[in-house]
Order: sequence, then structure tokens, then C-alpha cells
Amino acid sequence: MSLTMAPQGLLPSRMALRGMLLGLLMVSCFTFCSSHQNSKEFALTNPEKSTTKETERKTKAKEELDTKVLEVFHPTHEWQALQPGQAVPAGSHVRLNLQTGAREVKLQYGDKIQNNLKESKKGKRLDINTNAYTSQDLKSALAKLKKGAEMESSEEDKARQAEVKQLFRPIEELKKDFAELNVVIETDVQIMVRLINKFNSSSSSLEEKIAALFDLEYYVHQMDNAQDLLSFGGLQVVINALNSTEPLVKEYAAFVLGAAFSSNPKVQVEAIEGGALQKLLVILATKQPLATKKKVLFALCSLLRHFPYAQQQFLKLGGLQVLRSLVQEKGTEVLAVRVVTLLYDLITEKMFAEEEAELTRETSPEKLQQYRQVHLLPGLREQGWCAITASLLALPEHDAREKVLQTLGTLLATCQDHYRQDAQLSRTLASLQAEYQALAALELQDGEEEGYFQELLGSINSLLQGLR
Ligand SMILES: *[C@@H]1O[C@H](CO)[C@@H](O)[C@H](O)[C@H]1NC(C)=O
Ligand SMILES: *[C@@H]1O[C@H](CO)[C@@H](O)[C@H](O)[C@H]1NC(C)=O
Repeated sequence: MSLTMAPQGLLPSRMALRGMLLGLLMVSCFTFCSSHQNSKEFALTNPEKSTTKETERKTKAKEELDTKVLEVFHPTHEWQALQPGQAVPAGSHVRLNLQTGAREVKLQYGDKIQNNLKESKKGKRLDINTNAYTSQDLKSALAKLKKGAEMESSEEDKARQAEVKQLFRPIEELKKDFAELNVVIETDVQIMVRLINKFNSSSSSLEEKIAALFDLEYYVHQMDNAQDLLSFGGLQVVINALNSTEPLVKEYAAFVLGAAFSSNPKVQVEAIEGGALQKLLVILATKQPLATKKKVLFALCSLLRHFPYAQQQFLKLGGLQVLRSLVQEKGTEVLAVRVVTLLYDLITEKMFAEEEAELTRETSPEKLQQYRQVHLLPGLREQGWCAITASLLALPEHDAREKVLQTLGTLLATCQDHYRQDAQLSRTLASLQAEYQALAALELQDGEEEGYFQELLGSINSLLQGLR
């Protein structure tokens, strides 16, 4: 459950959110998932110590977070920023930091009322999980709320608060007090129903619809919430929104779906049945703004990862052809790198599943059967991905090259004959080898063992070895 300020009290946070949304819409050309949340990461680094290389590495890490669908997040007792695509275990405490735009997570813990009070004073989101509360907690939360609402802390107030703490009052009375303070208790499901209704209503403006999707994305990061979304038909509404003629609606619908699918098999299965895969592919195959395609590609990654049945369907529906056209479009290098990363993830995921099955002899044979039917590598070879991937090595960014090198490595067995005859690839690899030898030497001079450039050089060397 969340405790949210009702209309009047809600205004500051709603307005902040709206302001942020507008900001997001304006800079949407470079936002993928939640790039806005990286500002904090950079603020934490000491600018004097940050070398170009470190910055590069951070960019790399950031990129990774952007492209990969990550595992379930493990919260601690400290607030930690939630990265795009991460799923949160049930019962975690999640908040939206309106100053940085980051979603933050921690374990439910006793001192949360105090924290919530602090946050609410700073004008941040007030989010109290009432499941874990006793009436005493509620009462002291109320006392603090009142205190916060009336004036800043004073000695007099502290005394009054202590007095209030001695009292016990039934929950109905507390609710009345909350009502007086314009506070309503709304469960996450109620909030999601409200947002879906807002989005689904023909009387809502485009801006309201986008705002509803934007808010919804915040809730579906929690696995339980994402499953609840499908239980009342909300997921299908969002999937159907991919058919919208409005690129922004498509974009933010994909944003919600990417979060909802992530590491959530139940939702992934429903999404496949609800036709999400076809719709995502149609968007990627047609002319759309880059920002829309980025989010849609993200949703596609979320849907395919760890779900071999979806991967089979993807291949059947001609997904590889769609991705090929996407990569070959002009001005979509950023998408090309993400596509290559997705392919790398899918190839290695299948390899790991097979290895694991061999080692343990325990993994569900059904899942292994599913993976066996994903004929990804032959498909990649037939459709020219050997050459496409090799050509992407010409990209100038280190992190892009790193992704391409990784993928070339996993394609080596499949594409070996092709690569051996590819003179351009040999030239590119030789020139990259020289470039990274120099950079790796500088790294070593700095006393850095196992540096980033040494790693890249290692990949190049082993590729060259494999091609001999
Ligand atoms: C969305 O709206 C359509 C008609 O406009 C309606 O049939 C459908 O039930 C609504 N869905 C939800 C989940 O509210
Ligand atoms: C969405 O569009 C697809 C084709 O792009 C079409 O087949 C499907 O019927 C549409 N679905 C809805 C709910 O409009």
C-alpha cells in the first residue's frame, strides 16, 4: 500500500512529476529507459580524479544498464538507485527521487517513518507501506505528518508529539484524521487501475495519457504489481496502445511493457498471448522516431530474455529480418549496438542453459527442449549477420566496439569461413589491435592490471587467433 496525498496535497509531487515529464519529452531524443537517473551517478564522482578513461567506463556501464535486461535487484537497508529493467522483489520499498529522477529501493525497515517524514519535508514522494505497520506506527506517522504540515519542528511540537504518542486511537479515527489532512490510503492496484482508466479514457488528453503511462511504469517495476496489472486487464490495454497512431503513446507504452516484462515470466507469457511480440516488431519495421524505436527495442529485449518460447516466435515471425533492416538504416548506430548486444545475450543465454543442463542434469528438461528449438545461430548465418556484425566493428566508440567484439567471438564458430575470407575484417582487426596495444601500454604504465583496454586487446587477439 502507498500513502499518497490526495488532490490538494498531491499537487506538489504531481506537478514536479509533470514538470519532469515535460522535460523528458523535450529531451526525449537521448533518453533510453531512464537515462535521467544517471545524473546522480556522475555527481557522486570526484571530477578531479575522473579521467577520460573512467568516464568512458562509466558510459560503458551506463550503456550496459540501458541495453541489458537485468536480474532481480537485491535491496539492502540503504536506498540504492534502481537501474532500468531491474525487477524488485515483493515487499521492497521503492520511491521515486524527484530531484534526480532515480527510482530508489531498499528493504522495508523500522526507521522508515522517520525517513518518509524527511522525504515529505523535502517535497519528495511520500510512500508508506501500511502492510507492515501497527496502529502505533500509523499514529506516530500521523503525528509527524501533522507536525510537518503545520510547522517546522520546535520544542513545543516535540512535546506534543510525545503526548500524542501516549494515546491509542482506533484506526477509523486515524483515517478520519488522514482525511482531514487530505491524505488517502490507496493501494498500488487502485493506483494502477486509476492510471489505466485515465489512459483508456477517450476524454483524456495526449499529455494526460502519456503522464498516466509514465506513472504506471514506476509501479510495474515491482513484480507483484506487474502481475496485478494483467489480472485486471491493464496489461492488454498497454499492449493495444502499441497500435496507437501517436508515436509518443507507442513509446511510453513500450516503456511500461519493458519494465513489466523484465524477469517476470508470468507477464511475459501473457504478453505473447496478447500479441505484444507482433506489435513490437511492426513498430521496429516501420518508420518511427528514434526515441520510439529505442523503447520498443528495450521492450523486445525484456520480452525475449530468459523466455525461449518467445525467442522461437520471434524467429518465426521474421524478427531477425526486422532487426537487420533496423541496423542497416542510416543514423541508427545506437540501435545497431543494442541489437548486437541483444543477439549476444540470446546466444550466450542459450549456451549457458545447455551447459547448465549438462552439468547439473537437473534443470527442467522442458526448458532445455525449448532452448533447443531456438535455432538462432543458423538463422543469423543465413540472414547475413556474419557480415553485418563484422561491419559494425568500424564504429568509433570503444564500448560499441567492445559489444561487437564480444558478439563476433560468440559467432566465431558459426561464421568462421566467412570471417576468414573477409579481408576488410582482417584489416580492421589489425588496426584495432595496434590502437589498443598502445592504449593498453598506457594503462600498464599507470600501474593498472586488467585494464579496460587490455581486455579489449585480449578479445581482439583471441579473435585473430581463432581466424588463423
Ligand atoms: C478500455 O476502454 C474500452 C472501450 O473504450 C473498454 O472496452 C475496455 O474495457 C477498457 N479497458 C479497461 C481495462 O478499462
Ligand atoms: C493492431 O495493429 C495490427 C497490425 O499492425 C492489427 O493486426 C491489429 O488488429 C491491431 N489491433 C488492435 C487492437 O487494434
